[in-house]
Amino acid sequence: MAKLTIKDIELHGKRVFVRVDYNVPMEEKDGSMVINDDTRIRATLPTLDFLVEKGAKILLAAHLGRPKGQREDTLSLRPVAQRLSDLLGRPVAFVDDCVGEAVDQTAAALKPGDILLLENVRFHAQEEANDPAFAAQLAANADVYVNDAFGAAHRAHASTEGIARVVSEKGGACAAGLLMERELQFLGEELESPQRPFVVILGGAKVSDKIAVIDRLLEKADSLLIGGAMAYTFKLAKGLKVGKSLVEPEKVEVARAAMDKAASLGVELILPTDNTVVTPVVTDQLNKKGKPIIAFENPRHNTQPDIPDEEEGVDIGQETAQAYAAKIAQAKTILWNGPMGIFEDPRFSQGTFAVADAVAKATSQGGAKSIIGGGDSVKALNQSGLGDQVTFMSTGGGASLEFLEGKELPGVAALGNR
Ligand code: 3PG
Repeated sequence: MAKLTIKDIELHGKRVFVRVDYNVPMEEKDGSMVINDDTRIRATLPTLDFLVEKGAKILLAAHLGRPKGQREDTLSLRPVAQRLSDLLGRPVAFVDDCVGEAVDQTAAALKPGDILLLENVRFHAQEEANDPAFAAQLAANADVYVNDAFGAAHRAHASTEGIARVVSEKGGACAAGLLMERELQFLGEELESPQRPFVVILGGAKVSDKIAVIDRLLEKADSLLIGGAMAYTFKLAKGLKVGKSLVEPEKVEVARAAMDKAASLGVELILPTDNTVVTPVVTDQLNKKGKPIIAFENPRHNTQPDIPDEEEGVDIGQETAQAYAAKIAQAKTILWNGPMGIFEDPRFSQGTFAVADAVAKATSQGGAKSIIGGGDSVKALNQSGLGDQVTFMSTGGGASLEFLEGKELPGVAALGNR
């Protein structure tokens, strides 16, 4: 059922509590935290502009990282308030907590169009516990609840789920923000009855992460193109050798079942026919987790179905990239989730970037609708400078996957229906 959105409700002069996903990558530089990628902040600007224009009094709440109920200076949202203010071109007030007297006082002084960002909700353990008393405290300053945090909507936490119940019990509206609305439209409605051919590209490391998505999309797609380390578990299921490639031998049956299902539904499930392989060598250097760093040596193009015992597949090969690009070029709807190889290493990024290029071309030249299912594929598209040439890029990671699996997200379920 379609969800209520901010376009459907009365906002003027109301205290509007907006849950956003400002869980953005940051790093410490010269003693202060610097935002590395503000995509998620920018993605909420249409909602905030709309609320300002309507004269709402805006309280923003978000989480950053996983502080597990402890206050951590490096996970403060204060730098986000500054960036948001720069992007909006208007002041954004900040209070260093999300509940309590200081919040109540600042909220009470808000005028229509004012914006207040609250501190990281996960500094309180009650947030992740979805504690009803904490949800009520958050709701104390809310006449209306808006969820624009699609990326956190798979979490049933106090600021994503519990608060909505309290606000609606008080008779307040609970609505989707404009970003949430677009996410639900593109990852949901648009894929329900897609224009055909509908080509799905799935990559990433594990079959186990994607199997529910594969299962559901097999019922909708015309072609499923598989890449990333996940492809090696499929190859293993076909009786091929995969050398030292990353595989999940215990998922071979799952991969086989997916291939059988594809065959019975007449869906093309296409696996790479060539790849880039390397010789993995254990070095005496340790990574951050204290584990030995593996060096990838002697990269070469492997055109054989088998991968030799001492080698590991790290990217799809040229022939596969071309075949995938040809399929993508014919598509009218494209869904892409997961890279084709270890694209963070420039030696193994060709496959992922070739797919990014093909998706962008199919959109701009072929008129396809292209939807990017969040996470690493979004990163890859942005890295290749093609982020603005696709129809929609999700801001979700885990949330996008769960939504594509067909699950009802608690943060969405809690919102009112139209
Ligand atoms: C994300 O980055 O995927 C969301 O913000 C959710 O974060 P979480 O996995 O820590 O709940």
